[in-house]
Amino acid sequence: MTVLGVGGRPGAEPDDLLALAAKAIAETGQSLTDLTTVATIDRRRDHPGVRRLIEAADCRLAVYDAATLAGQDVDHPSDTVAAHVGTPSVAEAAVRAASATPVSTLAADGWVVCVGEPGPDLRHHGDVEAAPGMLDFAVNVHAQEPPPFLASALRDAVADLARYPDPTAATAAVARAHGVPPDAVLLTHGAAEAFSLVAQQPWQHPVVVHPQFTEPEAALRAHGHAVHRLLLEPDTGFRLGGARPPSGADLVIIGNPTNPTSRLHDPDEIEALATDSPADERLVVVDEAFMDVVEDVAEPHHSLARRAAAGRHLVVIRSLTKTYSLAGLRVGYLIAHPDLIERLAARRNPWPVSSLAAVAAIACLSDEGREYAAKVRAELPGHLAHLAAGLHASGFTTVPNPRAPYLLARHADAARIREDLRGQGIAVRRADTFPGLDQTWLRLAARDRPTADRLLATIARR
Ligand SMILES: Cc1ncc(COP(=O)(O)O)c(C=O)c1O
Repeated sequence: MTVLGVGGRPGAEPDDLLALAAKAIAETGQSLTDLTTVATIDRRRDHPGVRRLIEAADCRLAVYDAATLAGQDVDHPSDTVAAHVGTPSVAEAAVRAASATPVSTLAADGWVVCVGEPGPDLRHHGDVEAAPGMLDFAVNVHAQEPPPFLASALRDAVADLARYPDPTAATAAVARAHGVPPDAVLLTHGAAEAFSLVAQQPWQHPVVVHPQFTEPEAALRAHGHAVHRLLLEPDTGFRLGGARPPSGADLVIIGNPTNPTSRLHDPDEIEALATDSPADERLVVVDEAFMDVVEDVAEPHHSLARRAAAGRHLVVIRSLTKTYSLAGLRVGYLIAHPDLIERLAARRNPWPVSSLAAVAAIACLSDEGREYAAKVRAELPGHLAHLAAGLHASGFTTVPNPRAPYLLARHADAARIREDLRGQGIAVRRADTFPGLDQTWLRLAARDRPTADRLLATIARR
């Protein structure tokens, strides 16, 4: 993910930009085709040089207004540039705004180009932003503590801790609730372990659909895989639409509903990622960590769990961390064809899931657990609508039709707003660590009305 920041005079020649860009990129050992983004100021959006460069590199254009660029921390500010365009840096600042790190800058013939290297810290998660005592809109765990029925089941299970764990009953409970055979279920140490099990396989050409939760890509990279990113676009509301992985892709990972966009994809569109290219043997892994706020496990209109159990082209990953406020326990599961489960589980440590986690899985998928999830589900649309309306009143735009318990919101001044909120004890999630997003985006958890009002009033007072 190489970014090229570009600044230039209005009358500068397009050919000179192409030559300068090629030279700057060659100096970092790369070529124009390695560029994923050209970043510049909004007033140069239609400059023929910028257009030609995007065409030649076949990459995206990211534009920022002068205020956003002026807010970036740059090494080479210029008063002359500031006097002309209202920001002391364009090329270097645009690289920063695109969440990359400037590595080299060249200037010639009225152009300045700055090469920037990645990029998002894939292992940055919301928990780092929500220090103890802060009002937390950064982490998407539903409540401060697990519901009483769950806490009491866990307390009762403490008496059994002398025995080694046996996941059989919990696996059967999960299978029953989803309507799939028990040998299509693998209980895991959180969804995070499931990503790691997937990443341990010998993929040739893994693809991750972004923006999405970064742990699947981090796990693939940690296991030595080069990862191709399929970037969905803000203009379409991050819809999957006709986006397709490159031919040859043997693994595609996608979130549904997606973190951080809150987009719920059509399950047929997701399945088509695996099946519309019969020439490619392809596995599609769907991270459904937030699906329990969309629908009950027994009525899968969007979940691909049953199709995953029946075929060999899908894996569904679920988490019990979020809705049930169990992040500290580490419990999730994976649903796939039994042959795939056997392959994925082959290299696990012994007893990877504790007996308390197994008890929690049984309780979460019991009638009581599912009623609890139904209550959370029923309250969510109101919380989302209230949060969106308040943000819109303060000049944010939000990604439409959110279906997960958070909103992805955009504001030219988002980075400063986040800092201001932080100073006042309120944590919101920076979103520029998600590939495809930049500092203009924030992710905010949908909390109950009084809690959301504290956030919204603080934003409105700025
Ligand atoms: C989309 C998504 N999937 C999976 C996870 C990880 O879930 P777990 O806590 O079960 O490992 C997260 C946590 O933030 C997430 O946002």
